[in-house]
Amino acid sequence: MDWGMQNRLAGIIKPATGRCVMLAIDHGYFQGPTTGLERPGETVAPLLKYADALMLTRGVLRSQIDPGQRTPIVLRVSGGTSVLKDDLSDEEITVSMEDALRLNVAAVAVSVFVGSDHEKQTLGNLATLCDRGQKYGVPVLAVTAVGKSMTRDARYLGLACRIAAELGASVVKTYYCEGFEKVVAGCPVPVVIAGGKKIDERDALKLAYNAVSTGAVGVDMGRNIFQSKWPVAMIRAVRSIVHDGCSDEQAWEAFQRDAGKAVAGATA
Ligand code: 5RP
Repeated sequence: MDWGMQNRLAGIIKPATGRCVMLAIDHGYFQGPTTGLERPGETVAPLLKYADALMLTRGVLRSQIDPGQRTPIVLRVSGGTSVLKDDLSDEEITVSMEDALRLNVAAVAVSVFVGSDHEKQTLGNLATLCDRGQKYGVPVLAVTAVGKSMTRDARYLGLACRIAAELGASVVKTYYCEGFEKVVAGCPVPVVIAGGKKIDERDALKLAYNAVSTGAVGVDMGRNIFQSKWPVAMIRAVRSIVHDGCSDEQAWEAFQRDAGKAVAGATA
């Protein structure tokens, strides 16, 4: 791997721990104004210092994020669909590598829909991006999107992650599932997990703990952080699991302390 690509990757997956807490706020690219992201700049401002990387689209980056901030950017560069369609898999590449470089990104992100009607097209998008990224030293994060008819089990996710890695992804983002260690064992590049729909904070911390203790290098979490009533407490708690080796129980205790202070501060 060349120096530029290694340097960009080291900005995302921290060499000190080999782990990563990425904050995902790219949901609007097909969902529109997602709850908690109506004003994304305001949402992420207090969270950025706890995020190793921020995953978002070009439009939100340009319009909402201070160019003076230093958190590495993972730019979503696939899209072209919306929640109004049943089939979300009909994606294309939406940003040129030249524009991604102009935006000084640390990586680009693309979804693959293995087993969908547009499997070949989305895998082609990934392969094309890997070629373009290779030219300039830009790593590609492949997101294993799961269609409604697919089961999020180790067999399916293991297949999707392995294909993404085989086609050249530097990092793969997928979902946690039972038997997750098999997904990681079959994937020759680092794996991070998405958080999925908002769940109770205690359960989201357990999810993060289960993922890293079965081989994920970290999380690329969105709604379970920015839709929490206590997003700063939540990202700090997730960080303590990913980077500091805390158990989910320890992180939950820290979360409650932080959230309690936030409530006390707000009512003082
Ligand atoms: C959508 C994405 C999202 O970034 C991803 O799902 C992470 O967010 P969350 O933790 O809210 O699931 O890649 O395809």
